[in-house]
Amino acid sequence: MGGGLGPVEPYRGGAPLEKWAQMTSWRLLAVHLPRRWAHSQGVGRKAEAVALAFAADDRPTLIAAAWLHDIGYAAGVRTSGMHQLDGARYLAGLGVPGRVCGLVAHHSGAVSVAAVMGLGPQLAAFSDERGPVRDALWYCDLTTSPDGLPVSFRTRMVELRARRDPNDPVRALTHNGAERAAAVRRTESLLLSARFGQQEETGYGRPAP
Ligand SMILES: [Fe+2]
Repeated sequence: MGGGLGPVEPYRGGAPLEKWAQMTSWRLLAVHLPRRWAHSQGVGRKAEAVALAFAADDRPTLIAAAWLHDIGYAAGVRTSGMHQLDGARYLAGLGVPGRVCGLVAHHSGAVSVAAVMGLGPQLAAFSDERGPVRDALWYCDLTTSPDGLPVSFRTRMVELRARRDPNDPVRALTHNGAERAAAVRRTESLLLSARFGQQEETGYGRPAP
C-alpha cells in the first residue's frame, strides 16, 4: 500500500527504525496530505534534537514515533477515523515494534478522543508507557504548528481550538489540557536538566495529583 511515492515496505528490522519511519511517513503523507507531511517533518526533526537528551536505546523509538505519529490520517491507513488508533494498527500490521505502536496510539491525549468516539476498548489494546519518552513525543507534537514550525504549547492549543469544528473528536484534546501541559512541562524540565547538568524536578515516578 502506498501514498503515491511507492509501496510501503514492512519493517523487517534490518534498516534503522527511524530511517524506515521517515521514509514511510513521506510515502503516506507527502503527496496527498502535504501540510500533514510538513507538520510531521517538524515533529520528526524536533524529536531528533530532543532525543539527544535520552539514552541511546530510547532514541530510535522516540524519533520513529515522531515521524509516524500522524500517518493515521492517510488514505489506506484510515479505518476507524481515529488517527492515533488507525496509525498504530497499521504499524503493528507492518511489524513495527510494539513500543512505537503504543506511543503512536496514545500520543497527545488520545484517550480523550477515544472516549468521545467510543473507541476506548480498542485503544486499550495498545499500552501507554507514561514515561519521559512518551512525554517527549507529546512535547514535540504539541510545540509544532500544522505547517511544521516551532510554536509554544499555548499557541498550539489556541490554534487547535480555532481550526477544529466543535464536533470534531480531535477537539476533545482540549478536554485534558492539564495532562498535556504536564507532559510538556516535564519534557522542558528534562531538557533543561540535560542542557545544564542539573537535577530538575520532573515529576516522574510521583503519583498523579
Ligand atoms: Fe501531530
